Amino acid sequence: MKGTPLPRLDRDPAMRERLLPLCRLRAGEVWTDPTNQHRVGCLDAADPAQMARLAEGRPATLAVQDPPYNLVAFHQQRLDEYVTWCRRWVEVTLDCMADDASLYVWLGADQRHGFGPLPDFMIMMRDQPLQTRSFVTLRNQRGYGTQKNWMAVRQELLIYTRGAPPFTVQYTDIPKILRGYYKEVDGRRTENTERGRGKTIRPGNVWVDVQQVFYRLEENVSGCYAQKPLLAIERIVAAASNPGDVVLDSFAHSGTTLLACERLNRRALTADIDPVYCELTIRRLEHYRTTGTIGWQNGHAFEPELGDLSKV
Ligand SMILES: C[S@@+](CC[C@H](N)C(=O)[O-])C[C@H]1O[C@@H](n2cnc3c(N)ncnc32)[C@H](O)[C@@H]1O
Repeated sequence: MKGTPLPRLDRDPAMRERLLPLCRLRAGEVWTDPTNQHRVGCLDAADPAQMARLAEGRPATLAVQDPPYNLVAFHQQRLDEYVTWCRRWVEVTLDCMADDASLYVWLGADQRHGFGPLPDFMIMMRDQPLQTRSFVTLRNQRGYGTQKNWMAVRQELLIYTRGAPPFTVQYTDIPKILRGYYKEVDGRRTENTERGRGKTIRPGNVWVDVQQVFYRLEENVSGCYAQKPLLAIERIVAAASNPGDVVLDSFAHSGTTLLACERLNRRALTADIDPVYCELTIRRLEHYRTTGTIGWQNGHAFEPELGDLSKV
């Protein structure tokens, strides 16, 4: 393991400034992958014209959105502003989606500030022309908390659909061992292990088998502060789209959705407002193609230019 990660870029503006000249996209620009035609744009998710340029008229079967929400001070006014902003990017997302499509949104509930913005977002979404479909909780293995409160180990994922989008059942790696749940089928008493189609259990709407990203994992993209596990995004992409379909992610960050699309033969349209995260997203794809690895673990994406940061 290398010991030279990038620092969290949201907390190190000097490092961010150093990386900016190494980024191939400027605000408003779009990169098209010459191999599989994925597209990465340095764009504003809430700007309809910019996102239409990214989509090029090819509607997405699936949108996986993970907006920033930890930047907001949740006093009433800011929360209202945040939800207004969410309404804007949701409407832009809907413009980029097919008639039969799913929208997955990661959003948190801040227990110190009225559980915002999750309930406010959910209420805003009632006005949208979408069906509510599911509400997944991803259970982290590690959490934060004190001896005086329940440890916070959950991440929330809201699922909406319109029309009749694809859905393919997914399985975990957890073997089916629990017998019971008897049911009569064709006059015969059967139990769950013989009725089920897989040898392992389905994830259901509480995912307990996904390890959140930290620096010891190969998939770690140092510099990022909000990276979602590839397993979770691949589960979503595999369930809610078919090979060849277009998948949209307007908040790319570490490029997890792009990588999932590459590995599962979907076409990704992805954007980030920050050129540094666009660059990390593109480099993660390129690094995967040249090395077969899904991140840098404890190294970093700018090693060709900056080398070993511990020696700087
Ligand atoms: C929570 S992170 C997304 C994490 C991502 N799912 C992953 O697995 O790496 C949110 C990202 O949204 C970007 N962002 C913030 N405002 C944006 C906007 N208006 N348009 C596009 N991207 C934006 C931030 O720069 C940040 O990289």
